[in-house]
Amino acid sequence: MKTMKLGTSSLEVPVIAVGCMRINSLDKPQAERFVQSALDEGATFFDHADIYGGGECESIFADAIHMNASVREKVILQSKCGIRSGSFDFSKEHILHAVDGSLKRLKTDYLDVLLLHRPDALVEPEEVAEAFDLLASTGKVRHFGVSNQNSMQIQLLQKTVKQPLVANQLQLSITNANMISNGINVNMENAASVNRDGSILDFCRLNDITVQPWSPFQYGFFEGVFLGSDKFPELNRKIDEIADQYSVTNTTIAIAWLLRHPAHMQPVTGTMNIERLKDCCKASEIRLTREEWYEIYRAAGNVLP
Ligand SMILES: NC(=O)c1ccc[n+]([C@@H]2O[C@H](COP(=O)([O-])OP(=O)(O)OC[C@H]3O[C@@H](n4cnc5c(N)ncnc54)[C@H](OP(=O)(O)O)[C@@H]3O)[C@@H](O)[C@H]2O)c1
Repeated sequence: MKTMKLGTSSLEVPVIAVGCMRINSLDKPQAERFVQSALDEGATFFDHADIYGGGECESIFADAIHMNASVREKVILQSKCGIRSGSFDFSKEHILHAVDGSLKRLKTDYLDVLLLHRPDALVEPEEVAEAFDLLASTGKVRHFGVSNQNSMQIQLLQKTVKQPLVANQLQLSITNANMISNGINVNMENAASVNRDGSILDFCRLNDITVQPWSPFQYGFFEGVFLGSDKFPELNRKIDEIADQYSVTNTTIAIAWLLRHPAHMQPVTGTMNIERLKDCCKASEIRLTREEWYEIYRAAGNVLP
């Protein structure tokens, strides 16, 4: 597994992150096997959120990995907070409370990374700054970042928050690639040119913020998996053809496509299938050519001007 620095931090992380949102679909022995296989692959970075499974996913993970001090040293734990039932909440009180909950469920006394999960319209950056200062000074959180935020929102936070925001987790896959397409279709009048997120990809590159693509295999908002789907015949033909050339699976190619982007992204996989996770990790060893990257991009129905 290749590694890289997370954002501007000195934290060395695997280029593939293991998302734990679906770990509550496994029973205990399955979860133990899954987590152990991830470690065997060098996939030691685990992505959580306080809301996954209503908190259950963090607990299941901690039990499955048999969390203790020596295990803790071998893994990198990221969690998120700020989504509540029916609202978003970046208040100091909620952030502090949420982190304490995650630490307890994960059976640890620190998070390597804390992300603010989804923009809160009522955010007061000063409150976030106070919360982050407390979390940093008490050693409960080592690095901070955001998720689903545009460039202005990050700038607004960063005006007050002292700690560098090192990651932005965003929905991005071959079939959900508007943040790439609008950069290709600048100055056009087509749908792909619509800049929905304030050029977030360029912003993250400019500021050395690691983009973590979530749902790398989904189309729409959790509508289904594009691999093998008859909704994307041309895309699947192209991915399968390239997969054959590299003697890997279509899963590997879908992740390799994200890794080929020069933003140095860290895709967050969601599979709970051990073989599929291994295929995802294999992508770390593959570098698609420029031509292959564009062929896959176009086969998904994305247009070039
Ligand atoms: N920041 C955010 O707002 C946000 C939002 C959502 C998710 N996330 C994070 O991102 C992670 C990944 O999200 P995700 O789970 O939606 O991502 P995903 O990897 O795109 O989807 C995983 C799901 O797709 C299935 N799948 C994948 N490839 C398949 C294939 N070839 N054939 C059939 N099924 C296939 C998996 O089933 P199997 O288990 O059987 O492989 C699993 O149910 C989450 O765990 C979470 O950590 C963050």
